[in-house]
Amino acid sequence: MKVDLTLGEFLKETVETLYEEGLLLASIGLDGKPNVMAIGWAFIGYLWNKPYFIVAVRPSRYTHKLIQETGEFTVNVPTPDMKDIVDYCGTVSGRTHDKFRAKKLTAVKGKSVKAPIIDECVLHYECRVDYESRLEPERVPTEVRRINYPSGGYHTLFFGEILAYYGDREAAKRLKP
Ligand SMILES: Cc1cc2nc3c(=O)[nH]c(=O)nc-3n(C[C@H](O)[C@H](O)[C@H](O)COP(=O)(O)O)c2cc1C
Repeated sequence: MKVDLTLGEFLKETVETLYEEGLLLASIGLDGKPNVMAIGWAFIGYLWNKPYFIVAVRPSRYTHKLIQETGEFTVNVPTPDMKDIVDYCGTVSGRTHDKFRAKKLTAVKGKSVKAPIIDECVLHYECRVDYESRLEPERVPTEVRRINYPSGGYHTLFFGEILAYYGDREAAKRLKP
C-alpha cells in the first residue's frame, strides 16, 4: 500500500540506490506520452526553504526536451530486481522506444503533477521545476571536462521542488539502507 511519507524517511535508501543502481526519472510530453530514463547524478536537499530534487540531464536526452516542455518530472526508486529495467531505460531513448510498454511498466498520473509515477517502484518524488541552469563549460574543472565532456553535452541542472512524496513503507524497508 502506498502512503504519504515524510521527507527524510528512506533518504539513505534513496541516495544509496541512486549511487549503486540508478533511479528512474519519469516525464511526459505535451503529446501525453510518458517516458522514463535512468539517472545516477542528482541531489536531494533544501533550498529557499523548500525541498528539492535536482537532476542533471544532458541536452541530448529526449527527457531534457520533455522536462522543458512541461516543467515536471517524477523520481522513482526501483527495487533491486528492476536492475535490467534501469539499464534498459538508461540505454535506449524515448524518441524511438516506448520504454513503459517494452518493460511493462505502469504509468500512474502523479498526485500533484501530470508527469507519471512508475507504479512498480517503491518510492515516488513528484517534482515541479522552478529553476534550471546549464553548466558553464569554462567553469567546469579541466579534469572533469576531459573525462565527462570530451564532445560537449554539458548537463542542465533542473531544480524540481518536491510537491509530493509517497511510497510503500514495507517494500522500502527491504531496500538497501
Ligand atoms: C545507471 C544510469 C544512470 C544514468 N544517469 C544519467 C544522468 O544522471 N543524467 C543523464 O543525462 N543521463 C544519465 N544516464 C543516461 C540516460 O539514462 C540515457 O541516455 C537514456 O537512454 C536517456 O533516455 P531518453 O532519451 O529517453 O531521455 C544514465 C544511464 C544509466 C544506465
